[in-house]
Amino acid sequence: MSKLTEIGPYQQLIRDHFHCDDDDLARLQEEADTAGLPNMSIGPEQGKFLQVLVHLTGARKVLEIGVLGGYSGAWIARALPPDGKLIGLELEQKHADFAREQWRKMGLADKTEVRVGQALESLPELADEAPFDLIFIDADKGNYPDYLDYALRYSRSGTVILGDNVRMWGSLMDPEKQDWDWVQGMRRFVRELGRDERLVSTVVPYEDGLAMAVVK
Ligand SMILES: C[S@@+](CC[C@H](N)C(=O)[O-])C[C@H]1O[C@@H](n2cnc3c(N)ncnc32)[C@H](O)[C@@H]1O
Repeated sequence: MSKLTEIGPYQQLIRDHFHCDDDDLARLQEEADTAGLPNMSIGPEQGKFLQVLVHLTGARKVLEIGVLGGYSGAWIARALPPDGKLIGLELEQKHADFAREQWRKMGLADKTEVRVGQALESLPELADEAPFDLIFIDADKGNYPDYLDYALRYSRSGTVILGDNVRMWGSLMDPEKQDWDWVQGMRRFVRELGRDERLVSTVVPYEDGLAMAVVK
């Protein structure tokens, strides 16, 4: 789901009662459009779901791979306790700068940090910050299996690991797209997440499929 996805009347009612963007989140999305950031953030339903998970797990340390304009990060950081920390990894300097500025405007600067570069180059530097309580993978799909390896390495019993866009906008099951390295990466990710005996895992049926696992 993304910020511009059309929704029906039932989904709108549920959104109005449970998941509505407040002024700051709505402004973030508007300014992201104006700044020309790609339209590929999660929707407010998943943002609220991430918040529920942060509270449910009592998370203090969260890792996000793929920050974009900081929309999902804002939902997460708001749910963290005052001494909590979200570390985001982001490839694009422009996205990282935008997210930092939005988080600053929301009063979330002390709880958030973005590291710029290829996530696979940033991840080895995070060993001293581990374990994380929640890890949200939402970047290039071809590398999801490697991100999962790091997530497992940087987890403890009870850590929640999430991977967005399992359905890949229909591409996962499209016979014409099976050679695409992103589809192959997602297929491996799903297989490994489902089979790994260290995990209890499922896919939450948000529009594009949100994989979720808890480390036993
Ligand atoms: C789907 S968007 C993230 C959306 C964000 N989680 C949200 O919901 O607000 C994916 C982001 O991952 C970043 N990205 C893509 N490949 C990456 C890589 N190899 N390392 C780090 N970030 C990457 C993109 O620049 C983009 O900002």
